Amino acid sequence: MNISERRADFPILNTQMNGEPLTYLDNAATTQKPQAVIDAISQYYLHDNANVHRGVYSLAARATDQYEAVRDQVAAFIHAPQRESVFFTRSTTDSLNWVAQTYGEQNLQAGDEIVVTALEHHSNLVPWQQLAQRKQAQLKVIQLTSTGELDWASAQQQITDRTKIVAVAHCSNVLGVTCPIQKLARLAHQHGAIIVVDGAQAVAHQPVNVQTLDADFYAFSGHKLLGPTGVGVLYGKLALLQTLTPAQFGGEMISNVTWEHTEFAPIPQRFEAGTPNISGVIGLGAALTYIQQLGFAAIQTQERQLTAQLLNGLLTFPDVTVYGPQQVAQHGPVVAFNVDGIHPHDVATGLDLAGVAVRAGHHCAQPLMQVLQVPTTVRASVQFYNSAADIARFLAALQAVKEFFQQ
Ligand code: ALA
Repeated sequence: MNISERRADFPILNTQMNGEPLTYLDNAATTQKPQAVIDAISQYYLHDNANVHRGVYSLAARATDQYEAVRDQVAAFIHAPQRESVFFTRSTTDSLNWVAQTYGEQNLQAGDEIVVTALEHHSNLVPWQQLAQRKQAQLKVIQLTSTGELDWASAQQQITDRTKIVAVAHCSNVLGVTCPIQKLARLAHQHGAIIVVDGAQAVAHQPVNVQTLDADFYAFSGHKLLGPTGVGVLYGKLALLQTLTPAQFGGEMISNVTWEHTEFAPIPQRFEAGTPNISGVIGLGAALTYIQQLGFAAIQTQERQLTAQLLNGLLTFPDVTVYGPQQVAQHGPVVAFNVDGIHPHDVATGLDLAGVAVRAGHHCAQPLMQVLQVPTTVRASVQFYNSAADIARFLAALQAVKEFFQQ
């Protein structure tokens, strides 16, 4: 990969923060956008803006064609067996809440079990916790090993014949670990449960095949995938989607309405009530095109090198604790750490002054912080467009922050 050329595709990477070159290492929170995505959104508003699925005029047909073409693109991107299995939401959070409010509401009974893991983001925990409370079901948690990976013995213990839903992150937004989705799906299915996968931290970093994973539902966001905010995706197995009553009602999702009765539109329109985020979907399409042109082989090679430099660099500091696996081979592009005696917010503020953007806090995973026995951590996360110079600037800035606070 020609990293200088790729960085030139992302206008913001050429800017400054606090008078220093922007060193953006908060990619797990949101990715930066290439010019191609920014242009696709402007192009839509400049030349193609009309509502979708409604107008008979040419402009509306053009907008509808562009919107629906992205559904095909997403289906191909995640290897969905059919385009109808893919529908657009606001975000990963929206997608996961949708599953809780449809499949969960319509299938769970008192005494049933929902199983999550100890590393879940709040978006894949709170909807299930609330559903369990509404249904008088039990929420169970698969524990982690000492290196932050899923404890398989705990998975086997927690998933039982009473389990109806297993909800799991494909990749952790804190520990940088990848969960064994295929193996978990097999276990869930053996017990008659479905598996719901939060793919927010996975889709930009590895090829995803929902059929190989055997995921019943797979959720992700556009903005963590070089696309715009406000657009998400939910994939569901068609046979499951066909059993579900929509969670939202209104325009777009109907085929015939009388005062007494409504016939719903076919899937997937049935699950897209109201005017969708058309420009967001079109921007997501441009992001997928960009990623496909780059290819995951090149993306993964670059991100593995950056992660190795980041992780190994952090591990050279005797007063830095890295959470999760300490070996690069087990590590995704997200590294959470703390520095002895310096509050994570002070670390992040010191780095900010040097132009380095990282996240400090609980990373929307407060129960995981309890497992790690820390209130918060600092988190640095890389994307293929980061450079070796970015990581070097981050490590040098961290050294300077340490010297400032420890003098
Ligand atoms: N889920 C995003 C993160 O982990 C916001 O930072």
